[in-house]
Amino acid sequence: MKAIVYTKYGPPDVLQLREVEKPIPKENEILVKVKATTVTVADIRSRSFTVPKAFWLPARITLGFRGPKKQILGMELAGVVESVGKDVKRFKEGDQVFAASLSDFGAYAEYKCLPEDGPLSIKPSTITHAEAAAIPIGARTALFFLRKANIQNGQKVLVYGASGSVGSYAVQIAKYFGAHVTGVCSTTNLDLVKSLGADKVIDYTEEDFSTTDETYDVIFEAVNKSSFSACLKVLKKGGTYINITEPLPSPQMLWTTLTSGKKLVLSRNAPETSETLDFLKELVETGKVKVVIDRYYEFDEIVEAHQYVEKGHKRGNVVIHVEKERS
Ligand SMILES: NC(=O)c1ccc[n+]([C@@H]2O[C@H](COP(=O)([O-])OP(=O)(O)OC[C@H]3O[C@@H](n4cnc5c(N)ncnc54)[C@H](OP(=O)(O)O)[C@@H]3O)[C@@H](O)[C@H]2O)c1
Repeated sequence: MKAIVYTKYGPPDVLQLREVEKPIPKENEILVKVKATTVTVADIRSRSFTVPKAFWLPARITLGFRGPKKQILGMELAGVVESVGKDVKRFKEGDQVFAASLSDFGAYAEYKCLPEDGPLSIKPSTITHAEAAAIPIGARTALFFLRKANIQNGQKVLVYGASGSVGSYAVQIAKYFGAHVTGVCSTTNLDLVKSLGADKVIDYTEEDFSTTDETYDVIFEAVNKSSFSACLKVLKKGGTYINITEPLPSPQMLWTTLTSGKKLVLSRNAPETSETLDFLKELVETGKVKVVIDRYYEFDEIVEAHQYVEKGHKRGNVVIHVEKERS
């Protein structure tokens, strides 16, 4: 089968289209014929080995010391089940599925084996494989962290970085939970964020969200570009600050939780189960959540796709058609 392989960390052109062995599903696995995958921030970081200094050693242990242990990147996909292992109960040949493959990677390939009890679900019937491939990481992350913040009907939520993958889902899912949502984005993305249902939008190139009179029950920092102090100023007492990028609290964050009655929810991985994908499937099929796709690339344009995402300004998601035919 064809796959995008990388044998060393580096710039986008370390990614090469190669012929590799087709995988065989184990007894508890399904074999998926991949129709579409995506380029996420996590793919960019894993390819280039861009990690904070404090995480260099654990990341090297996970990803590989001399070079990548898992040489096929790709952390989300949609496709069709080609065959199933003998113990598989939930899926059958021909099922259309979408999945995350965060720990094992491997979605930049024509075929991928996935355990049936992982983050894997039947694809929403109302959208294409290309759209479905862009749900598992961004939407699952948004839903996981909003639930962690115990989001409630009528609360005021600020989403900082509302035009990115996680941000665009966070706006819509917070609206689904009945929140009043303010999205912070740049001028070019104001219309997009409004179209996702935000009640209010703030253009960060024109206005500082922390200098208005507005205060929030939840601040969802989706791109880690605002300062914690600025967020604190407009976070209500008892409110929750979510940061999906910072896994460890700074001294200021620790002090805040001890003294101010404001809560912190910091970065961690969402559980590797299918529950959230099943829930998101319903939200998509009932029109509550739309998938924002910025650009589509063909499989052999993966280097260009990585170059684009690396700039840090994608709107929503960037999708790769693994099959030549548009899916
Ligand atoms: N903890 C987890 O489980 C988890 C899961 C997924 C992602 N993440 C992390 O979450 C972060 C976001 O991921 P993503 O895929 O959603 O990112 P993304 O789609 O690449 O974010 C790009 C967006 O950020 C906006 N942006 C750039 N600079 C900005 C600024 N100064 N202020 C406001 N918006 C700005 C860009 O719009 P403009 O350029 O127009 O401003 C663009 O729309 C990444 O750090 C990723 O590693 C964590």
